[in-house]
Amino acid sequence: SEVTLKDAFANKFLMGVAINDNQASGRDSAGAQLIIKHFNSVAPENCMKSEVIHPEEGRYDFTQSDRFVAFGEKYNMDIIGHTLIWHSQLAPWFCVDENGKNVSKEVLTERMKEHITTVVSRYKGKIKGWDVVNEAFEDDGSYRQTKFYEILGEDYIPLAFQFAHEADPDAELYYNDYSMAHKGRRDAVVNMVKKLQAKGIRIDAVGMQGHFTMEFPKVEDFETSLLAFAATGVKVMITELDLTILPPPAPNVGADVSANFDYQKEMNPYPDMLPDSVSKAWNDRMSEFFKLFIKHSDKVTRVTVWGATDADSWRNDWPMKGRTDYPVLFDRNYQPKPFVNEMINEA
Ligand code: XIL
Repeated sequence: SEVTLKDAFANKFLMGVAINDNQASGRDSAGAQLIIKHFNSVAPENCMKSEVIHPEEGRYDFTQSDRFVAFGEKYNMDIIGHTLIWHSQLAPWFCVDENGKNVSKEVLTERMKEHITTVVSRYKGKIKGWDVVNEAFEDDGSYRQTKFYEILGEDYIPLAFQFAHEADPDAELYYNDYSMAHKGRRDAVVNMVKKLQAKGIRIDAVGMQGHFTMEFPKVEDFETSLLAFAATGVKVMITELDLTILPPPAPNVGADVSANFDYQKEMNPYPDMLPDSVSKAWNDRMSEFFKLFIKHSDKVTRVTVWGATDADSWRNDWPMKGRTDYPVLFDRNYQPKPFVNEMINEA
C-alpha cells in the first residue's frame, strides 16, 4: 500500500492539518478521508476562536469544537487547541463593557480566567496542547496594541499561560506567531519565552506560522529564528504552513479583486490552473522548507499545514478576496502535489 505523509515523517515530526467543520462533520467526506489518511494531528481552523466558541458573555457554543475534538479522538490524532487569547476573531464583548469602553484590569483578568478555564477544562486530557497566546508582537518586536495589551500590559501573556496550566496541568502550552523570520519579532519572542521560564510558568513550544510567499521569508532567516527559539529549551512547531503563489496586492487595489476588473488579471493570474513552470517553482520552494524541517527534526515536533486542499485554503480570500490560490499540499481534486511524493521519498 501507498506511503502516506504521516508514515513518511513518523520518526521526525507529527504531520498536522487545520480542519474545518465540513471535514470534522464528514459533510466533506473526501476531505475527511484525505485527512485521516495523511495526517496524525489536527488543529481547528476557526471553531475554537473566542468569537465562535464564546460569542456572548456567559454563553458558549461548543457545537463545532466538540465535533472537531471527536474527530481527532476517533482517529487517534494529536489534537491541538487554537487559540485562547488572540486580538483577531475576538468575541466582541470580551474586552469592553456595554458602552464599548475598555473594562478594568480586574474585569479582563477575570474574563480571561473564566474563558480559559472553561474551554481548557472541557477538553482536559483530550487536547494535547494549546496555542495559548497568538500574535502578540509586531515585526519590529514591539507589543501589538491589542485590547489585552492596552488593558493589562505585557502581564496578559503570563496570566494566560498560568490560567491554561491550572485548567489542564498535563496540556502542552504554546506561543504562536507569524512572520517569525523578522529579527524584531524573533528577539521579542525569545525574551518572552525567557520571562515565562524565569517565572516558572510552563511553555512547551513556540509555534512558527508558515504563511509564506514566494519572496518572504528567506529560508536562512526562518532557520535563524527556529534555532533561536530552540536555544531557549522549548520545542518548535511549524503551525500554519501555506505558500501563496499569488502576487501581493498592489497598493491601489481594493480588498475584493472580483469587483475590480482592471486588476483582476494582474492580481489573479491563475484562475483555472497553475502553469507547470510556476507549479515547479512552488514545489521547489516548499521542498526547501521541508528539507529545513527535516534537518532540524530534533527540534521541530510538528508541522501543521493550514488547510487540507487548495480549495479549503483561506489564502484564496486573503489578503484579497476572490482569487484562486494554490498554497497547500493537495490540489482541488484531493490529489497530492508532486512535492508530496518527492518529500515522502526524501524522508
Ligand atoms: C484564518 C482562517 O484560516 C480563516 O478561515 C479565517 O477567516 C481567518 O483566520 N493566523 C492564525 C489563524 O492564527 O487562525 C488564521 O486562520 C490565519 C492567520
